[in-house]
Amino acid sequence: MKDKIEKLKAQLLAALKSAKTDEIVRNLEVDFMGRKGQFTDIMRGLKDLADEAKKTVGKLANQVKTEMELAIQKKYAELEVAELGEIADKEWIDVTVPGKKPLVGHRHLITKFMDDLEVIFSRMGFAVAAGPDIELEHYNFNQLNIPPDHPARDMQDTFWIKNLKETVLRTQTSPVQIRYMEAHEPPIRIISLGKTFRKDSDATHSPMFHQCEGLMVGENISMANLKAVLTHFMQQVFEDPSIKTRFRISYFPFVEPGLEVDCTCPICHGEGKTENVPCRLCKQTGWLEVGGAGMVHPKVLENVGYDTEKYTGFAFGMGLDRMIMIKYRINHLRMFFENDLRFIQQF
Ligand code: DAH
Repeated sequence: MKDKIEKLKAQLLAALKSAKTDEIVRNLEVDFMGRKGQFTDIMRGLKDLADEAKKTVGKLANQVKTEMELAIQKKYAELEVAELGEIADKEWIDVTVPGKKPLVGHRHLITKFMDDLEVIFSRMGFAVAAGPDIELEHYNFNQLNIPPDHPARDMQDTFWIKNLKETVLRTQTSPVQIRYMEAHEPPIRIISLGKTFRKDSDATHSPMFHQCEGLMVGENISMANLKAVLTHFMQQVFEDPSIKTRFRISYFPFVEPGLEVDCTCPICHGEGKTENVPCRLCKQTGWLEVGGAGMVHPKVLENVGYDTEKYTGFAFGMGLDRMIMIKYRINHLRMFFENDLRFIQQF
């Protein structure tokens, strides 16, 4: 019996030695140590031995059983290590190599600026309205008191949409005024921010640019309200409470009177120079032109069915690209659109 025990052990050890997979080891384990296994048979036979033999053979059997179980566990462990080693050989990484930071995108400076304007105006009670970039001639021109033969259409070199009748890339954000008024009754107070398009392309003009439109209509709305809103707005944008605004008479078909809006130069603070160096931004005038404005033309109010005896309103429109350039001291318009990350990531 002792021989049998030793032989079984030798057999198992030999078989384990050549075993290459977990599965083979598992089969051996069942075959030798399982409930119907060869070794289990022997253990079961122990009870038939005489007392003395039971003692010695039993001791040996228990010892060998432990050895065999250990050998099996050791083999499992070896196979696992070998497998991991293989993975490690194939898929190793050098954890000491400095990591690469994943690039995280963020909104473009122009988008952020527009969000800032929304905050400034919403604090003055303005809601935000939007309109389409591809706009009907009806809204971009006609309803704004710019009929087809009106010379003001020449002021804005328009992109017309091929094969789509009476459709343009909006030349201004002003059509949003009409869309909003058609859908709402006074009192209204809105701004609208977005892209605008004109056939204009040189160092200081991009065919796509950005505007902020404002509109306030109600009872007793006056130019004083317009001035207050625009002055506060300019002070907020340039973070300078000393900024003043002035109006110069001008012409836009959808307002009467029409105005050109200037604000004191945020670089030289209206002085025209800084420490005796002439200010180049405002060409030493101390003033910058920032947009157009005026009291909404009664014709425009009529076009949307408002009672012109009861309601008056003001409107304004400003180009944003140059304003952003001034605020962030950006020298070239093209930097906005070149997608140079060295530039974009600064904001
Ligand atoms: N839409 C005009 C432009 O693009 C700017 C403008 C002027 C807007 C006067 C207005 C306004 O609302 O009242 O040149």
